[in-house]
Amino acid sequence: MKIVGIVGTNSVESTNRELLKYMKQYYADTAEIEICEIEDIPVFNEPEDKTAPSAVQTLSDKILQADGIIFATPEYDHSIPAVLKNAIEWLSYTTRPLINKPVMIVGASHGSLGTSRAQSHLRQILEAPELKALVMPNAEFLLGRSLEAFDDDGMLVYPNKVKELDHEFNEFVSFVKLTNKLTVNNEFFDASKQFSWKQVANGEDI
Ligand SMILES: Cc1cc2nc3c(=O)[nH]c(=O)nc-3n(C[C@H](O)[C@H](O)[C@H](O)COP(=O)(O)O)c2cc1C
Repeated sequence: MKIVGIVGTNSVESTNRELLKYMKQYYADTAEIEICEIEDIPVFNEPEDKTAPSAVQTLSDKILQADGIIFATPEYDHSIPAVLKNAIEWLSYTTRPLINKPVMIVGASHGSLGTSRAQSHLRQILEAPELKALVMPNAEFLLGRSLEAFDDDGMLVYPNKVKELDHEFNEFVSFVKLTNKLTVNNEFFDASKQFSWKQVANGEDI
């Protein structure tokens, strides 16, 4: 199973990146997790020709080829970081690779809440008509106190969180298998690819 893990920040030192690295190593027998960065993506500017910049195209191609996606998001001011929202805006405006993609959301925060508010925003964002990701329902993985969460080998040191993540990740693997079966030859895929806010503004049928 091929999974893309998106680091939701351009921060050089990131515990969310550490979390994805841990998952890549710890679940290597179950899935091939490729960690993707968003730091090279320019600021979104609504280009008329709707062409994706190369960094967006590269990320988009990886998403399209993956069976499932994991977003690891920090929490900035009770939401997701602007760089992550920026990357998502490019994907929604240009290539739309997240349509029907199974998604797991995880997050790490230095404080105790573990990005719960950012994660619920991200869930809502990914339901936008141009994104239409299939976010795994009834699931979240919140890693608080993330600065102390990993040892020198990158292993997660909180036993309760190791267990919880095992449970969530195993559920995600099943969710990916299930949704990939359901979305083969999906008749709504093309319609979602054609969605346009201009048509909505003009009152046209969508
Ligand atoms: C601009 C800014 C806003 C932040 N806002 C929050 C917040 O609302 N809630 C929170 O728990 N941490 C907040 N933080 C702290 C951390 O960025 C947060 O714990 C983050 O999830 C850590 O992720 P990272 O280790 O991957 O960078 C903020 C940090 C910055 C720089």
